[in-house]
Amino acid sequence: MDRKLKIRLGSEKDTDEILRIENSLFKEDSWSRNMIFSELKKGINKKTFLVERNQKLIAYLMIRFFGLEYQILNLAVSKIEQNKGVGLLLLLFFLKKIPINSSVFLEVKESNLPAISLYNKLGFIKQYVRNKYYSDGSNALVLHHNKIN
Ligand SMILES: CC(C)(COP(=O)(O)OP(=O)(O)OC[C@H]1O[C@@H](n2cnc3c(N)ncnc32)[C@H](O)[C@@H]1OP(=O)(O)O)[C@@H](O)C(=O)NCCC(=O)NCCS
Repeated sequence: MDRKLKIRLGSEKDTDEILRIENSLFKEDSWSRNMIFSELKKGINKKTFLVERNQKLIAYLMIRFFGLEYQILNLAVSKIEQNKGVGLLLLLFFLKKIPINSSVFLEVKESNLPAISLYNKLGFIKQYVRNKYYSDGSNALVLHHNKIN
């Protein structure tokens, strides 16, 4: 791993830094401060992984899990840090951590080709489409990854 990059678990203290990235990327689809804060609170079925470069937060991955079923709720890399392998690194880190036979699900906007390409690269496969899932009327693809080794 790039020596300047560090992956750690998030806590409520990270709310405002995540909110800043969230607002800059997702605009009207952004999570609110309350949603982020509550996701960062300790809980038995949730975790947020963060990537820092030189102590500055540059990416986050929010996960919920129930037994061997994992749900990716949110993934983002700050604009200036995109296309440098950070998203791939963070997802690989997470996929390495979970047990074999785990199932991972997520929703992604049908038009979000960078994210879909990243997920496909890691073995995520389209399961079905949720029509008009997003506030702009666009569809969500539900993708699934089965960890086999
Ligand atoms: C999608 C996102 C997480 C990818 O993270 P990233 O760090 O920029 O991606 P990486 O540099 O690790 O790229 C890994 C792979 O993703 C795909 N990818 C990333 N950016 C891409 C782009 N602009 N166009 C096409 N494919 C792209 C490619 O398959 C790439 O592999 P390659 O470099 O061998 O072509 C990032 O662009 C992002 O935060 N986007 C805004 C928020 C978002 O859409 N989140 C996902 C919600 S489901």
